[in-house]
Amino acid sequence: MRTETPTPIYLKDYTPPPFLVDTVTMDVDIRPEGTLVTTTQTCRRNPAAAPGLPLVLDGEDLETLAVVLDGRLLAQQDYQLDGESLTLSGLPDQFTLETRVRIQPDQNTQLSGFYRSKNGYFTQCEAQGFRRITWFQDRPDVMARYTVTLHGDKATYPELLANGNPVTRGEEDGGRHFATWEDPFKKPSYLFAMVAAHLEVLRDRYTTASGREVQLAVFVEPGKLDQCDHAMAALKKAMAWDEERFGLECDLDHYMIVAVGDFNMGAMENKGLNIFNTKYVLARPDVATDGDFENIDRVVTHEYCHNWTGDRVTCRDWFQLTLKEGLTVFRDQEFGFDRHNPTVARIREVRGLRAAQYPEDAGPMAHPIRPRVYEEINNFYTATVYEKGAEVIRMIQTLVGRDGFRKGLDLYFQRHDGQAVTCEDFVAAMADANGYDFAPFMTWYHQAGTPRLQARGQYDGAAQRYTLTLRQLPPEGGQPYLMPVALGLVGPDGQDMDLGGGATTRVLELSALEQSFVFEAIPAAPVPSLLRNFSAPVILEAEYSDAQLTHLLAHDSDPFNRWEAGQRLYGHLILDAIRHITQGVAPQWPESVAAAARAVLTAPDADPAFITEALTLPTEATLAEAMGQVQPEALHAARNGLRRFLAENLESELLARYRALHDGKAYTIDSPAMARRALKNCCLAYLNELDDPRYGELAKAQFDGADNMTDQFAALAVLVNALAPAARALGETALAQFRERWKDEALVMDKWLSVQATSRQPDVLERVRALTAHPAFDAANPNKIYALIRSFGANHRHFHAADGSGYRFIAAWICRLDPKNPQVASRLARCFDRWKKFDPAHQAHAQAALRDILTQAGLSADVREVVGKALQ
Ligand code: TRP
Ligand code: ZN
Repeated sequence: MRTETPTPIYLKDYTPPPFLVDTVTMDVDIRPEGTLVTTTQTCRRNPAAAPGLPLVLDGEDLETLAVVLDGRLLAQQDYQLDGESLTLSGLPDQFTLETRVRIQPDQNTQLSGFYRSKNGYFTQCEAQGFRRITWFQDRPDVMARYTVTLHGDKATYPELLANGNPVTRGEEDGGRHFATWEDPFKKPSYLFAMVAAHLEVLRDRYTTASGREVQLAVFVEPGKLDQCDHAMAALKKAMAWDEERFGLECDLDHYMIVAVGDFNMGAMENKGLNIFNTKYVLARPDVATDGDFENIDRVVTHEYCHNWTGDRVTCRDWFQLTLKEGLTVFRDQEFGFDRHNPTVARIREVRGLRAAQYPEDAGPMAHPIRPRVYEEINNFYTATVYEKGAEVIRMIQTLVGRDGFRKGLDLYFQRHDGQAVTCEDFVAAMADANGYDFAPFMTWYHQAGTPRLQARGQYDGAAQRYTLTLRQLPPEGGQPYLMPVALGLVGPDGQDMDLGGGATTRVLELSALEQSFVFEAIPAAPVPSLLRNFSAPVILEAEYSDAQLTHLLAHDSDPFNRWEAGQRLYGHLILDAIRHITQGVAPQWPESVAAAARAVLTAPDADPAFITEALTLPTEATLAEAMGQVQPEALHAARNGLRRFLAENLESELLARYRALHDGKAYTIDSPAMARRALKNCCLAYLNELDDPRYGELAKAQFDGADNMTDQFAALAVLVNALAPAARALGETALAQFRERWKDEALVMDKWLSVQATSRQPDVLERVRALTAHPAFDAANPNKIYALIRSFGANHRHFHAADGSGYRFIAAWICRLDPKNPQVASRLARCFDRWKKFDPAHQAHAQAALRDILTQAGLSADVREVVGKALQ
């Protein structure tokens, strides 16, 4: 493990690589005593680099056996080998370098580089895993053509895969075999991949618009072939959509997806050989929820889209990560809008942004979407780089329009295909294709924090003039942003007003700190509908009265803002209730919110998925951001209080709707059926806020009778969280039945772990502790850590327990995991991000736990950066 104090890396220090690499030939010999990797690279001096520089190769945990320069075996004094670099000086302008190393994939618990998982060996090279396989200039602006030969035992590792096309394969002595793969595309080392494993495969084909036939394959652990169909279908849909929407065709002869159960993240876009966490591949109606199916669609699309935005055009350096990630998230989001209810998809994105990215942007790890400095790059695969990055791309599209955006993207590929570029290059293509000046927009790339937006409307009845004054408050001391503010004016009759030329929505471009916009011929005082469809990722501090919010909730023609009005209303009421609770007064809930919710629930033509979103309260993490000092117990009580109040008032409507939706119709996985299940399960959960034992029985009956995981798991979650003792007892039975039925399905058992870790019951920590010894848990597997330990860390009420027990528990796990898998440990450490928002007693506990972590010997750079920043 790295023990030295970390040296920060700065964007301003970027220099081009001293040498370019044209070809890389690798021979990988997998043997029980270790894997031998022989790499031959043809190098030449980079004309863009300073002259005379030495070649510095990166390496980590490599046992160096030989270094051969132009056929001459070098002696140890011919090169400099220290810790993680190998330096060669006085090199000619062109040469061939061969290195021979031994690596130990069986001991690789970090899951970065080449590592063992259940059925064989797999790689993960982003961001800096390739250096754990061989000596290399491991940086994304070194792009080379790779040829890879794998050797291994044939019976144990029948599949030998690498990027590109299969060239030859054959038998070798001792029951071994080999396979050679050649990737025709230049690529950075982070996109390198290889697999040697025992897998089963689902094959298919796709013919692109121009007639290229692509062989598709999804590889999974034996016995899981019947869980691959959805991923394969998702892949084909994504391929067709990218052609249609962006004119981007698949450039490969072979597109392979390999699922692996041990994986730090979601999935990886390696050229032609994507490697996926099993949870984003495997699905079947009885084992996967609707959410799982949707996540598979999203992740398969995301990785497929990377083939252009990431692989064909990649990042110059890791500071540019949002160049590929923000853009690719934007692209997978657009696919979602084109296939599902776009409002509901947008609502879910914004809910996620507020629950994860806004807190990040307000906490110790806040960074611009393009950071200027990092200690450990793995810590910057964040909601900011991904989700806020996607919002920034979306604003570009809003500013230049959909067609303008397409023109800009076309120009980007025309200019930069095959290159490693910067965010400026992307924005320049958008600017040049559209004659649009993005200079004032660049603040979004440079500045951390969430800007606030204030709006003040003034209506002059005599002149029939409405003046809207917008004021932006950049984060402290910051520059103003250029932000698109999509606006409508809703009249007293609920109709949108004409904003000129029949338009009812206009996109205002706010670039000054304060700007006024004047609307003429406005017949009555309107309620402004601001940031329609969430046109900018800001915090809107509009002072809407509850009556205005109810008006917007009922009438706004922008469905996103109808939802938004409801969220604001709930937020107001919950924050008020918290004030009451902390003063020892029972909160009062107004009838009007029940009436508004009733109108939402009973709207005859509304999409059930939209109704579900409109009845779902903001999360505790989101609400906490709006509080001065967070009192987690009061927050939890207030939010539950509103849920219970709504349930009491809407009981008959909820039950009627539940019954109507629980109609025994055959299960299908299309959007309308998913929407109906979502609303049904939302009603069931609300009903179980009441003490009536019949609703627990209703949930148990659904659990027992379900023919699909969505309904079964939703019922389980309701029972586990039920407050009525009878329902709670049914929850215990259901947990035991669920475990018995699904004990052999790892991904289903992850749900079983996480439903217990996220529970609102008082004994949750004891339970989680006990579960760490359960056979369903495995501390070496990231999915299990995320399902049990991180889920508990995200349990707002119980992680922030007043006695500090939650903090100590998570801190102990961080220390335990760090020596084995620093990436996972560091993600867990992010649970502490917001510790300074709590009262002094909480803070003292959190600070003590964080300090304890820092005293651990040999702490990784990953955890040190996160914890160090938290304590600053
Ligand atoms: N590039 C991957 C994606 O967004 C992210 C990723 C997968 C990753 N595995 C990783 C990032 C390991 C860092 C470390 O699709
Ligand atoms: Zn990505």
